[in-house]
Amino acid sequence: MSETLHDFLRRATARLGEAGVDSPALSARLLAARALGWDAARLVAERRSAPDAAALRAAEILVARRAAGEPVAYILGEKEFYGLRFEVTPDVLVPRPETEHVIELAEARLERAAPLRMLDLGTGSGALAVTLAVRFPGARVLAVDVSGAALAVARRNAAAHAVADRVSFLRADFAALPVAGTAVDLVAANPPYVSDAEYAGLSREVRDFEPRLALTGLPGRGGLDARGAVTGTECLAALAREAHRALVPGGLLLCELGCGQGGAALDILRAQSGWRDGEVTPDLAGLDRVLVAVRAL
Ligand SMILES: C[S@@+](CC[C@H](N)C(=O)[O-])C[C@H]1O[C@@H](n2cnc3c(N)ncnc32)[C@H](O)[C@@H]1O
Repeated sequence: MSETLHDFLRRATARLGEAGVDSPALSARLLAARALGWDAARLVAERRSAPDAAALRAAEILVARRAAGEPVAYILGEKEFYGLRFEVTPDVLVPRPETEHVIELAEARLERAAPLRMLDLGTGSGALAVTLAVRFPGARVLAVDVSGAALAVARRNAAAHAVADRVSFLRADFAALPVAGTAVDLVAANPPYVSDAEYAGLSREVRDFEPRLALTGLPGRGGLDARGAVTGTECLAALAREAHRALVPGGLLLCELGCGQGGAALDILRAQSGWRDGEVTPDLAGLDRVLVAVRAL
């Protein structure tokens, strides 16, 4: 007799649990739903049925990928960010829930309908740029990334959310922005902020599957510092310098940080003249998460 969905899910959950992945039951359900082409409600309603054997074999292959550490988002090719569905490929970082805090801060500080100009430095999947364009219907956003492959994904996400006419894309190093003539009201960024030393200690899901460029920045420059120092905050120093050049006086910088980088981030702003109202806002876990500052001059 063929296996019921219930038995398949039990077996898959046990296998994923033994492999040490997070949320094994949820992963098993998501992967089975994808292979069967069913939604969550049908998965529950037809739990006692015996689905097509070929579909269960396809689900088994997805479960094997997950058991080998591949994140669910890459297997499914999508991830939700701020209530929107984003395409993700191995060329982009999987958007993280903590990055949603950048959008929340933008919404708290800026006027929704104003004709704002915005810059997203290190756009990856376009999570920040596209979400900002969706949430601020009067805004125009320039999304910058050094990775052409990431920009291709971001472009598709802008089109999928019907904001392609207000989001433009630029392949550039955000440490050397061609910003002449750019005068933006907001710089949003989630730059690489993992040092090479920290990189070795990341979980295999991150280290083996997510693009290193998104985590530690350009090779050999620790994300950008001319002296070759390799730390997450060196990258931030270069980004803040360029953000200051791009912002109008009174313009806002919102930059995600690695936890524990808050003090160093504020030191960087103090050392660069021309910033005011610098603060670090914590995420829901109470960790340093977003650097907020206003261009003074
Ligand atoms: C941490 S990921 C953030 C992606 C996306 N903004 C998000 O929050 O999900 C950093 C991004 O910065 C890009 N990047 C790294 N170094 C860069 C540089 N020097 N100039 C421009 N982009 C860079 C990477 O390709 C990657 O897409």
